[in-house]
Amino acid sequence: MTNSAVRMTGVVKRFPGVIANDGVNFEVLKGEVHALLGENGAGKSTLSNILTGLYRPDEGSIDLDGTPVSFSSPKAALDAGIGMVHQHFRLVEPFTVAENVILGNPQTAFVIDTDSTVERVADLARRYDMAVDPNAKIWQLSVGEQQRVEILKVLYRGAGVLILDEPTAVLTPIEAEALFKTLRAMTAEGRTVIFISHKLDEVMSVSDRITVLRGGRTVGTVATRDTSTRELAGMMVGRSVEFSRATRRNPGDPGDVVLSLTDVSCEDDRGREALHGIDVTIGRGEIVGVAGVAGNGQRELAEVIAGMRTFTSGRILVGDKPLANGRARSAIADGVAHVPEDRLHTGLAAGHSVEDNIALKNYRTPLLSRFGMLKRNVITSQACDLVTRYDVKTPDTATPVRLLSGGNVQKVLLAREFSTKPKVLIAASPTRGLDVGAIETVRQRLVEAADDGVGILLICEDLEEIMSLADRIVVMYEGRLVADMPAVGATREQLGLLMGGATPETSQ
Ligand SMILES: Nc1ncnc2c1ncn2[C@@H]1O[C@H](COP(=O)(O)OP(=O)(O)OP(=O)(O)O)[C@@H](O)[C@H]1O
Ligand SMILES: [Mg+2]
Repeated sequence: MTNSAVRMTGVVKRFPGVIANDGVNFEVLKGEVHALLGENGAGKSTLSNILTGLYRPDEGSIDLDGTPVSFSSPKAALDAGIGMVHQHFRLVEPFTVAENVILGNPQTAFVIDTDSTVERVADLARRYDMAVDPNAKIWQLSVGEQQRVEILKVLYRGAGVLILDEPTAVLTPIEAEALFKTLRAMTAEGRTVIFISHKLDEVMSVSDRITVLRGGRTVGTVATRDTSTRELAGMMVGRSVEFSRATRRNPGDPGDVVLSLTDVSCEDDRGREALHGIDVTIGRGEIVGVAGVAGNGQRELAEVIAGMRTFTSGRILVGDKPLANGRARSAIADGVAHVPEDRLHTGLAAGHSVEDNIALKNYRTPLLSRFGMLKRNVITSQACDLVTRYDVKTPDTATPVRLLSGGNVQKVLLAREFSTKPKVLIAASPTRGLDVGAIETVRQRLVEAADDGVGILLICEDLEEIMSLADRIVVMYEGRLVADMPAVGATREQLGLLMGGATPETSQ
């Protein structure tokens, strides 16, 4: 009798120009939370896609509970008991939670006995500590609640092994804590969890064991209690890592204003007021950090400045020029660059190549086109240069972006937005989903952009990131800026209180 839930032996998966998994050995024990770590492009998502039947391995074998298996589809894997919680949710918005949980379950056939289903879903949610109303419609739910529905779907189908690919990338810190409780409740009942994350602190606190991949190969498996974040970072990159701070050369000039918002208000997608009279300025070369719990108007703030959402009152100046309301193309022309939260949907054309995506915003400029003809060789060489500077792992610049790993997709977008020589850069969680090495590279590039005079609005829930990069910090709460202070002297406690709605007086 073995205690092994999943064992992969010598698994190889090749794509054109890349060996994504190169003889991976990986064993997960029953009832553990097993974290999977590795740099961007190391092969983690590929490994999960093989385990869940989305890809077939070219070589190697998989055992489930000690028996060899081979899955022809995700459904086959789920029938065998391996379920995946995807980062991009696959829920039907107008339907309720309970309806989504049972959708696609063959046992339900066509008759849905609503009362007993709702009861079963509610039971499951309670058992695993998940706060979600089975009768709520999907569109009414927060991102964290939608993720719970995805987890319920897999549990409802009876999965004994759950794979979560970067589940916390979309969660607030409080939602992440709640997820960890749920994972614990699942392993306590003998279920097995495979958990992918780049956040080392998180991995240290939630996992029992950790496997590190590098370049498609297994570096090793360690017990969490016997290791440290420093050792893990070293295993991931193959050398020791210094956690250093990006250093500024120029302090910036707050007097020379590159962006100003005066009394700006706007509505969210459902027509409710999302911003209430925002006043803020950014100086040349200044990094202004926007701290706040997600959902307090940060996305709308970024969108009005990028011309992707109309503001209902107030005005916005880029330099001394008024911004055309709700016109993304003029915002770009006026020098506003934007790294949106949702990179694949609003930031990039996923089916197009790396170089076309990099050229996307500049193709009208004389550098890249002449008399309407694109200068292909300039486009390619500019792209090659950025791929090197941002360490994008891709076979070449003609590869479609959708074939890159999650983190490398990010780097393409950052490379493009940083290189348009903007006046103003709006960056939403720029290092989310990046590995430790890439985070340092991106922070360094942000600081260089500021040193070159770009005014940066850094919107981020990670206080550590804001405190290490920003010159000034504003706090957003329920669509208002509730504080505006120099970063020097700001404390985590004070910011945390303001983010939770404490008034500046009570948080001093
Ligand atoms: N369908 C595909 N076609 C071609 N190449 C692919 C495909 N899927 C993944 N790759 C390549 O395989 C390698 C491993 O990618 P994978 O997505 O598994 O990395 P990852 O460890 O999940 O990285 P990240 O942390 O950035 O999400 C990358 O070089 C990627 O470009
Ligand atoms: Mg991935």
